[in-house]
Amino acid sequence: MCMSEEAKLLCRWLIAITIIFICFCLSFQNHKPKCYIADLYVPALNTYTKYSNNTRANTFIFFDLKLENVMPFNGLRYDNVNLTFSYNYGAHFLPIAHYTVHGFYQGMAKTAHKRDVTNTHGFPWVDAFDTVSNGSMAVFRVELSAKVRSKQYFWYATKHRLTVQGDMEVGSSGLGEHHRAIRLK
Ligand SMILES: *[C@@H]1O[C@H](CO)[C@@H](O)[C@H](O)[C@H]1NC(C)=O
Ligand SMILES: *[C@@H]1O[C@H](CO)[C@@H](O)[C@H](O)[C@H]1NC(C)=O
Ligand SMILES: *[C@@H]1O[C@H](CO)[C@@H](O)[C@H](O)[C@H]1NC(C)=O
Repeated sequence: MCMSEEAKLLCRWLIAITIIFICFCLSFQNHKPKCYIADLYVPALNTYTKYSNNTRANTFIFFDLKLENVMPFNGLRYDNVNLTFSYNYGAHFLPIAHYTVHGFYQGMAKTAHKRDVTNTHGFPWVDAFDTVSNGSMAVFRVELSAKVRSKQYFWYATKHRLTVQGDMEVGSSGLGEHHRAIRLK
């Protein structure tokens, strides 16, 4: 192709302006983050531990919450993130633990892991232990409730309410089945 110097320069300018314009538009996104339970560990259901009497007294649940900011040009501000853990007991889910992740800021396209442990109250341990001993799965539900807003240059977009949940199956090792992350939807 035979272009004059002026035409080439104009062409470059148009490309640069288009790229800047696309980035500018993208930076006004206000998408909710993707939430996962990457891992769950319930020590009391680990039937491979020798002293199961001791571990049954262990009333804790270990978890790894993964939060993914999917926006390439926006940070995310989280208010407190509420987590509720429930156990599938008979026909309904019985809440056994609450946990709050303190509000925080997440940079563009970043992934955050919140790994912690929470105590339980009123967990029917014997039922859960019998279930996994039998080769069945104990099912835990994790519900997440939070408010988030994306950062756009020097200000924040309006708050979005985020309420998602997912079920994690736990087997006789006390670990989430197949070590697979569960998407909360
Ligand atoms: C373990 O638990 C069983 C029943 O749950 C009880 O009979 C036994 O005495 C306990 N053993 C110890 C060492 O506490
Ligand atoms: C364990 O499995 C047997 C046979 O599959 C069943 O009859 C029994 O009810 C099960 N017990 C529990 C606690 O799930
Ligand atoms: C989180 O839990 C606290 C205390 O129970 C409550 O005041 C707050 O409204 C909850 N936030 C969300 C987003 O559900």
